[in-house]
Amino acid sequence: MTDHIPDEVLPAGRDLRAYTDELRPDHPVVRNDRGEWVLLRHDLVRRAALDDLSFSSEVSRFLQVPNGLDGSMHTEFREALDPFLAPAALAPHRAEFERIAAALVRSMPRGASVEAVGEIGAAFAVRAQSAWLGWPAELEGRLLAWIKDNHAATRSGDRVRTARVAEEFDDIIRSVLARRRATTLIDVTGELLRVRVHGRELVDAEIVSVLRNWTGGDLGSIASCVGVLVHHLASRPELQSRLREGVLDAELDLVIDEVLRIDDPFVSNRRVTTRAVDLGGVRLPAGAPVKLHWTSANRDDCVFSDPDAFDPAGHASDNLVYGVGRHACPGRLLATLELRIAVRALLAGTTSITLDPNRPAEREVAPVGGWARVPVLLN
Ligand code: HEM
Repeated sequence: MTDHIPDEVLPAGRDLRAYTDELRPDHPVVRNDRGEWVLLRHDLVRRAALDDLSFSSEVSRFLQVPNGLDGSMHTEFREALDPFLAPAALAPHRAEFERIAAALVRSMPRGASVEAVGEIGAAFAVRAQSAWLGWPAELEGRLLAWIKDNHAATRSGDRVRTARVAEEFDDIIRSVLARRRATTLIDVTGELLRVRVHGRELVDAEIVSVLRNWTGGDLGSIASCVGVLVHHLASRPELQSRLREGVLDAELDLVIDEVLRIDDPFVSNRRVTTRAVDLGGVRLPAGAPVKLHWTSANRDDCVFSDPDAFDPAGHASDNLVYGVGRHACPGRLLATLELRIAVRALLAGTTSITLDPNRPAEREVAPVGGWARVPVLLN
């Protein structure tokens, strides 16, 4: 038997983490109002992510490259696209990301309220991604507006609205491609136009889908991650001072991953069963829509004895923030680089970051995770 949850819409004021922490021990698999089977426990989420024969990623009628592909088709696209996100490809962009972050922090007022998700996270994500892909700075306003609309559409659960927002993003991408084709510029977007899979170049629909995954998925996630990180630092002056004293990149990366594990804003991904599967004492029929709930899995006390305990090195190997298995995030290095640079710029450009006592931070509304607004004072 499974338990029923109301479409992940939580009782007013409930934190998604507290809610799934409460459900998980007795109800590791729950069903929501959309008929999706939501996996809450770490071992079950891991098992489903690793068993890609029983749990297909072909969940959408829209083309999704590479996330909606299975088997050898998925492997071929990952092999062709992963090099764009490898250390050697990212290294030349580091200095530009650092300049963008430092300039953004310099431009922030001191002692007056700054909202970390929108004014820091989203602004930084859009500028860094545009620099990485070679997109024009004039797109910034349109991309920022899109991040807001996309979150609102996800929150609403309205598929028509979500499809409209996706279409708006595709229009932005098509406008970039039209301009790129009219020039001989060789930047990341230009390189993508030359990628070959199966001995042929990608068709437009595939390029648009790849760019949607690289930007659409990422812009909102980086913004949400910055919100979670800034909230954590602003609420823990002792951690802030320790990091201000100096920390190596590798140690800072572990700290960032651990903060995101405790409050993972990238909540879930979908699968569909290809056959009947027994999971957590529940029989899922073939063709069942499934959600891998990363936020809940990352707080499973069977694995992280106290989900709120801060143990960057100890918890690293079980951390599922970037997923696991063949669909694990190919953008992890880029995300980590951007988040590390944002945190370093904030620490280097200030002497203290504190929560604004006059504007309390607000949680996001499920199914979006993390914080909607994190007003802070920079000094
Ligand atoms: C900001 C923090 C980010 C988080 C927390 C995150 C998290 C994840 C997770 C959990 C998955 C696994 C999905 C699944 O199993 O279905 C994933 C996949 C993916 N991510 Fe990320 N991601 C982030 C940033 C990025 C960035 C910067 C990019 C690229 C520029 C990116 C591109 C992708 C793509 C293309 C996939 C699909 C991979 C596949 O299906 O093979 N992500 N991400």
